Amino acid sequence: MFLVTGATGKIGRPVVRLLRQQEKQVRAFVRLTSRYGELEHRGANIFIGDLRQEKDIQKACQGIQYIISAHGSDGDALSLDYRANIELIDSAKAKQVQHFVFISVLGADRGYEDAPVFKAKRAVERYLETSGLNYTILRPAGLASDLLPLAERFRETGFYLLIGDPKNRTSIVSTDDLARIVVNSVIVEAARNQILPVGGPEILTREDIPKIFSRIFNQEPVVINPPLLAVDTLRGALGFFNPQAQKALGTFRTLLANEFFCTNEDIAQLQAMFNFQLETLENFLRRYLAI
Ligand SMILES: NC(=O)c1ccc[n+]([C@@H]2O[C@H](COP(=O)([O-])OP(=O)(O)OC[C@H]3O[C@@H](n4cnc5c(N)ncnc54)[C@H](OP(=O)(O)O)[C@@H]3O)[C@@H](O)[C@H]2O)c1
Repeated sequence: MFLVTGATGKIGRPVVRLLRQQEKQVRAFVRLTSRYGELEHRGANIFIGDLRQEKDIQKACQGIQYIISAHGSDGDALSLDYRANIELIDSAKAKQVQHFVFISVLGADRGYEDAPVFKAKRAVERYLETSGLNYTILRPAGLASDLLPLAERFRETGFYLLIGDPKNRTSIVSTDDLARIVVNSVIVEAARNQILPVGGPEILTREDIPKIFSRIFNQEPVVINPPLLAVDTLRGALGFFNPQAQKALGTFRTLLANEFFCTNEDIAQLQAMFNFQLETLENFLRRYLAI
């Protein structure tokens, strides 16, 4: 049986769907407040708990052969990105789990001091690498599904908000392709004990995104492009009354300020390893927006 954490998230949900399509047994780790009806309907075994609670993690790992860690952190990187994953790895060892797939993030190894999520991910990667477990660490770039609400807003208004340098490069990955890579990581021999950057088939600049929207909706884009300084100013002000939130925003700022793209070699390796062609952002958007 597979255990999927973050089963109701943008990555976890398509992973559970795919596993159920393949008629695999899945335990979906969800919260009582999560929207898990669809997963239950698809035949996933629903485990209600909180990843902040060690005993919930230990219980959820009973009878599990594969773990897919795909949860997010709600701004609490220490409890969720770090501690919950360490506990999952310890439980996986205790239960002799066959393979552990960890969703990290592209750039986790770059040492961004101001980004708690990136630091937690790198620390977990190191822990997993030396755990003795079979593992695959996936480092995705941005997700195509994150752009769907922006595309809908563009459709209604023609506006696109682009904070920071429009020339920064990115490799947005189809969320469905990522789910396929996640699921196949436990069976593709070459993916065992690897750290893999995961992006889409093309290197885009951030200013390419409104151009793609423009092509899809046949509408001229109005791009609003505030400098990164605007975020820094807001963040500075936030620090006066909520220092915790100010720190958590460091990850957001890091994402805005830097480039997150895969090289052509990374993508060629990924496609050869998993034996399929990755889809472009435009293709993904057209499929989901039914255009
Ligand atoms: N989105 C991206 O572009 C991207 C790129 C690279 C890497 N990643 C990484 O991929 C992972 C998943 O990202 P995502 O975008 O799919 O996240 P997401 O859509 O925000 O989903 C987060 C998931 O974690 C669950 N969760 C949060 N706190 C929990 C807790 N205390 N106990 C149990 N479950 C909890 C949420 O449950 P609820 O439904 O109850 O809220 C949800 O299912 C994250 O680790 C993220 O860093 C994301």
